[in-house]
Amino acid sequence: MQAALFVGGGIAALFAARWARARLLLSRAKHPSLRGHARMARRISKWIPYYEYDDEEFFAADDAPESVQQQRRASFERLADQFARKAPKTLAYSGAVEDGLADVEFVNRYRVPFQFREKVRKSFRLGLVVQATRGRHIQDLDGNWSLDVTGAYGVNVFGYDFYKGCIERACRRAEALGPVLGPYHPVVIDNVERLKRISHKEQVSFHMSGTEAVMQAVRLARYHTKKSHIVRFCGAYHGWWDGVQAGVGNPRPAREVYTLKDMSATSLRVLATRNDIACVLVNPLQAMHPNGNAPTDSMLVTSSRTVRYDKEAYAAWLRQLREVCSQRGIVLIFDEVFLGFRLALGGAQEYFGVRADLVTYGKTVAGGLPIGVVCGSADLMRRYRDERPTDICFARGTFNSHPYVMTAMNEFLQHLDWPEVQEGYHDIDARWDRRAAKLNGMLATRGLPMRVANMVSVWTTLFTQASRYSWMFQYYLRAAGITMSWVGSGRFLFSHDLTEEEFGEFCTRFVSAAESMVADGWWWSSPQLTHKSIQKRVLRETISVLLGRDRKRRRPLLDAQPAQPAPVAAMVEIPRPESSPSDATAVAR
Ligand SMILES: Cc1ncc(COP(=O)(O)O)c(C=O)c1O
Repeated sequence: MQAALFVGGGIAALFAARWARARLLLSRAKHPSLRGHARMARRISKWIPYYEYDDEEFFAADDAPESVQQQRRASFERLADQFARKAPKTLAYSGAVEDGLADVEFVNRYRVPFQFREKVRKSFRLGLVVQATRGRHIQDLDGNWSLDVTGAYGVNVFGYDFYKGCIERACRRAEALGPVLGPYHPVVIDNVERLKRISHKEQVSFHMSGTEAVMQAVRLARYHTKKSHIVRFCGAYHGWWDGVQAGVGNPRPAREVYTLKDMSATSLRVLATRNDIACVLVNPLQAMHPNGNAPTDSMLVTSSRTVRYDKEAYAAWLRQLREVCSQRGIVLIFDEVFLGFRLALGGAQEYFGVRADLVTYGKTVAGGLPIGVVCGSADLMRRYRDERPTDICFARGTFNSHPYVMTAMNEFLQHLDWPEVQEGYHDIDARWDRRAAKLNGMLATRGLPMRVANMVSVWTTLFTQASRYSWMFQYYLRAAGITMSWVGSGRFLFSHDLTEEEFGEFCTRFVSAAESMVADGWWWSSPQLTHKSIQKRVLRETISVLLGRDRKRRRPLLDAQPAQPAPVAAMVEIPRPESSPSDATAVAR
């Protein structure tokens, strides 16, 4: 009896030791930042109190002298006036949009660090409604043209004119069929063949967004491996589905998701030793900033933002991942929704020279219409088991393979056959690196504290000096005629049809924005002003607000302002469709 207890105890201790070792390894494979600790980040995010600087502190958050504060104040008012005067009609429409569109209400609150937010939001009203594009330029409702580097969230790789053509021709090709869903437009066959060739896979499925493509890829991996967990890398975005968005932003705790350190030998050891991992998700955009989040200006509490893009090192990392996934029967998924056709004709697989098991595409691949695609081997894509007829892997979507989307996709995919398009991918790194070096040279020669870093045509702004106000740069850029997405100066997406002349225009505008910002005193510096001193100060402020000691700083819940009425709603006229509903009824009769 005693011997049995002894053996039983020994076995239990052995299991406990193995479990503890695996747990420890998992902890070591987490990035030390909060991004690497999803649950803790969610918890802490609920504790951070809102507070804002009063009018005086807004210009003196770095203890700059009075004269510099005055300079800043004057320039701030000048910019606000410039925005208001330049585009009154656009601003009226934009106000109306913010009133009713939840997306806009949200992004308008997350453009700058929250301590500065309300004054910026009320003073710098931004034109968010536009009416036309021409080449690389975009026009607001007041007729102002600016250089567009939003990249339409990644869709715009070949230029707006190209996508307009795709959609126009696609509509003509799908017109006779209309929105028939269920049976397919014949063009689907060619799309499938082309995507199989591009991805080097045997089967394809169509979805309505990148988020859904990722959902399906992960579901297939779990179904076939019969394992529960997925691995994603710290900082990587894979759409907004609960199952891959661990941490802040998702009200549910991340379950069955391991967020591991990118480019880390410890993470490889976790993959090599755990038995519960179904798949590894890779967003190749992370090559630019491994373990970092997307570089939004709202996170610029200090001006520290880093990019460490090393193509060879990242390719070597992907090869290691490939090897361990093959050895352990883990499905390697490349999520190419964002980067796909921006890097190479064969996407990130070709660009980095590594093949994944499943690949997702989206954004640009449907010629400007909404899309998500999964490509994989026939084995992995199968949604049923011959030997277990009721054990299926379900996936549907009303609008999958919509005829108009399929014809637009065909226009896009056929375009890739053109010799000049294929030529455009040759020496793509050198071309864009040369451009970045040129702008950096101009900035350095003028002693300006901005630089750019890039991965092909995905660019970000970096700052060489500690500051509380680097987020202001996006407004100087806007005033200089550059249109960015809501993340601001953290992400410029160029379309590949940008001419040298237009790039010159971008550089001129960028440099002039930088010079104005410096001249207006926002880059005042002192030996005491460092990234560390800024972080410490913000931490002190946060704690004192949290403890209720800070009576000076305003907390909105205590003295909330009523929402402003929609500005000049009467000015907003929406054009009517050419045929009215009564015409349609008449036709039906
Ligand atoms: C890598 C990646 N995966 C998935 C998605 C989600 O795509 P969608 O916005 O079409 O749902 C995105 C969107 O930006 C993305 O960048």
